[in-house]
Amino acid sequence: MEQTAVIAGRRVRVLDAGSGEPVLLVHGFPLCADMWQPQLDAAPAGWRVIAPDLRGFGGSSGADAVTTIDGHAADVLALADHLGLERLAIVGLSMGGYVAMAIARLAPERLRALVLCDTRAEADTEEGRENRERMRQALRAAGAAVISEAMIPRLLGTTSQRERQELGPRVREWIERQSPAGIEAALVALMTRSDASERLRRVTCPTLIVAGEEDALTPVETHERLHALIPGSRLEVIARAGHLSNLERPDAFNAVLHRFLGGLREE
Ligand code: MLT
Repeated sequence: MEQTAVIAGRRVRVLDAGSGEPVLLVHGFPLCADMWQPQLDAAPAGWRVIAPDLRGFGGSSGADAVTTIDGHAADVLALADHLGLERLAIVGLSMGGYVAMAIARLAPERLRALVLCDTRAEADTEEGRENRERMRQALRAAGAAVISEAMIPRLLGTTSQRERQELGPRVREWIERQSPAGIEAALVALMTRSDASERLRRVTCPTLIVAGEEDALTPVETHERLHALIPGSRLEVIARAGHLSNLERPDAFNAVLHRFLGGLREE
């Protein structure tokens, strides 16, 4: 089901499936909630799966506003308030993982559980910031197509590029649907985010870390560092998947996610 909420005068598009305890999925850059379709289609019994478009992406307004990763985290919490959800499991992929880590810092009491996929704790390096600045200039000069050209070969793993050739055009369509203003605002949010490492040592909720074995943007080692930082966390590697592990190997990803969510029920 697709719905549009209006929160503090701003439009927020939300995809919603299943019923029960809430699990909220936060998408990566420069995508939208549609990337979670394989998880919405397989909502596990007893769980309500909710996937919003972040500010400035998809059908959510606010592309023109300056934002930060903490700002996105505050938006997600405002959506949870709007939906009447006190505590929730948060799943974040890549940029969505940065947002989930910010929620762990800003409002740990709201977290029933945390799932960090294809992401990293560290802030951008100097070189990373320079790359983003170059992307920003290219975006201004030539629009979102340059971003999809540059990113798709890195978003999808080598196995998917070879064996799931339908994914490239799908991801391209999502990227090129985004407004340049929204992509630019997110680039700034990404390059100015802070290092989450120290705070992650104090996470107390059940935490799952998911890495695509072929992830070129956030390799498995970055997840091993996350795993070492977060007490009691579990690390799962999805074989033959790249950065978009949930989309590339949905059955394997869902099996890992559902096992983790099922375990929360047994606590
Ligand atoms: C993402 O997939 O969200 C991006 O790769 C995040 C990033 O560029 O840091």
